[in-house]
Amino acid sequence: MTIRHISVTGIRNLVPVALDPSPRINLLHGCNGSGKTSFLEAIHFLALARSFRSTRIQPMIQQEQDQALVFARIATPHGDELAIGVSRNRQAEAQIRVNGESIRSMAELARNLPLQLINPESFRLLEGSPKVRRQFLDWGVFHVEHSFMHWWQRFQNSLKQRNSLLRHAIIDDQSMHVWDLEFCTASERVDQLRQDYIRRLKPVFTQTLSKLIQLPDLSLSYYRGWDREKSLADVLSSSRQRDRQLGHTQPGPQRADLRLRVGQQNAVEVLSRGQQKLVVCALKIAQGHLLADSMQQRCIYLVDDLGAELDPAYRKALCRLLEQLECQVFITGTEPGSLNYDWHKETPVSMFHVEHGHIKKSGVTE
Ligand SMILES: Nc1ncnc2c1ncn2[C@@H]1O[C@H](COP(=O)(O)OP(=O)(O)O)[C@@H](O)[C@H]1O
Ligand SMILES: [Mg+2]
Repeated sequence: MTIRHISVTGIRNLVPVALDPSPRINLLHGCNGSGKTSFLEAIHFLALARSFRSTRIQPMIQQEQDQALVFARIATPHGDELAIGVSRNRQAEAQIRVNGESIRSMAELARNLPLQLINPESFRLLEGSPKVRRQFLDWGVFHVEHSFMHWWQRFQNSLKQRNSLLRHAIIDDQSMHVWDLEFCTASERVDQLRQDYIRRLKPVFTQTLSKLIQLPDLSLSYYRGWDREKSLADVLSSSRQRDRQLGHTQPGPQRADLRLRVGQQNAVEVLSRGQQKLVVCALKIAQGHLLADSMQQRCIYLVDDLGAELDPAYRKALCRLLEQLECQVFITGTEPGSLNYDWHKETPVSMFHVEHGHIKKSGVTE
């Protein structure tokens, strides 16, 4: 997927922007507060109808505007073109149109434009809660296995129903049995799809990481959310008492996690901040490779504030990996120099200058 044309109105300080990015590397430079992150936010909004800076849409909508609107023409891997328009008003009501037709489901929108974000927040992947890692994992499964959404929704719904029953004073055993069955069926499918995905991701991740940094003792493993040796049905019946006391279900995919260790220790406890960042970049790039290999689909990478995050040698290594992925990349930095990298002469690179919300093409090599 590549953005051929994008126009943005009503997002933060961006003066209505219309531009044709390079299908490969796009470098955006400008002072602090000029609108670089806002432009990446606009692409994120196009792909997911929400911001990555806030869960609320209000702060993203430009002051004195009623709505944020992003329109784009996207080239698909099959050579077609998709016209996508996403808007949201101050009441957070969304309008999504793909080739002129209204779409209701965010999942359907997200499938069109797989997006990876590398910014200071994404480094929480290692140190943050398991939820962040589950989101990372499920992003991958969602994009390579189309049945995942169906099972994930059934699992979420049965979990909700089961938790609500657990909170009742008197448990209706028959209803509980019905929801237990549904919960186990859906959970086992979700778990299986996650396991299959991790099995495929691991070698790609190891290979990607080795191109960035040598960490031979680093391992990635998956915890499914309940005892590996037991069936979920058995675990559920033995935890019933405790689940009732807590008022929610303990075992299940809602407790799954990815574990990154160096030897026996948690990676966050032993790796330097810089090393952690590279591990996160390798995880995200590995997902892009896997998506390209299994679905012939390329995701779009948004890399915010590259210069501030990595020192020059690692910046180069990351740029090389992004270039090898052959996907569309948007990289921001305050200084054009921080974005300098010896791109291959055949790689189309466009440079944009961002100033007071205006974005102007300042250079191109094609
Ligand atoms: N809702 C909004 N309406 C108008 N301007 C905004 C809004 N939210 C933020 N801004 C302004 O947008 C500017 C762009 O910020 P940002 O994209 O983060 O800059 P950069 O990433 O280039 O440092 C900031 O100066 C900020 O004050
Ligand atoms: Mg910024």
